[in-house]
Amino acid sequence: MKLVVVKNDQEMSQTAARFIMEQVKRHPHSVLGLATGGTVVGTYAQLIDLCKLEKQSFQHVRTVNLDEYVGLSSENLNSYHYFMRDHLFDHIDIPVENYHLPNGLAKIPANECERYEQLIESLGGIDLQLLGIGRNGHIGFNEPGTSFLSRTHVVRLTESTRQANARYFPSLEEVPTEAITMGIATIMNSKKILLLVSGKHKANILQQLFYGPLDERIPASILKTHPHVTIIADEEAVSLLDRNDLEVNMT
Ligand code: GLP
Repeated sequence: MKLVVVKNDQEMSQTAARFIMEQVKRHPHSVLGLATGGTVVGTYAQLIDLCKLEKQSFQHVRTVNLDEYVGLSSENLNSYHYFMRDHLFDHIDIPVENYHLPNGLAKIPANECERYEQLIESLGGIDLQLLGIGRNGHIGFNEPGTSFLSRTHVVRLTESTRQANARYFPSLEEVPTEAITMGIATIMNSKKILLLVSGKHKANILQQLFYGPLDERIPASILKTHPHVTIIADEEAVSLLDRNDLEVNMT
């Protein structure tokens, strides 16, 4: 894992947007794996600005998102579909048929998971997967205890994740209890992974990721075994890492 330490959330977003931009410039037909959550909001805003500034087209880019809540339509303000349109897709020239998320309203969610796996395969796999991390180490919605071999599946969200995400909903009761998420093996199949971590509240999990064991109780720990992972983390997030680990990696 390559660690890039930046000053703050804003610098993390700029660095991440540049990283994604370089991927698209080099490979305009890239398949990007995208994420939702507070961490990536700034990255998408910077990416939109870069696209305008550098007149970069996303006409040929295809995207697949990590996850979606079960029970929410793409028009629901709290769905990840809506989040992605609002924060990125509506502001760049990606054609609507080129972006994909699991369908939260699928009649048979298990079939939807199968369809999503096949879709990713038919696109030729993910070239670059963007990831955030939950405080309990979840990636996508793969909660602690999820098999490292898992493929796209339906998950029951833990109370801590529902509470963490409740800030986007009118009340905790309205946070869905289930989601469809790419599995850990699906994520690990990506050619490159970009993990973004910012803030004091993520310092603990980043410390566990660095010094803890490879353990299904910490889903993100599997990333240590991937050959091409870049972590962009801000100073608050790296505050519990050993100084020696930081110095060699400082940008
Ligand atoms: C959600 C998403 C994850 C995301 C995580 C962290 O549960 N499903 O993909 O990484 O939360 O969110 P945040 O960036 O808001 O801390």
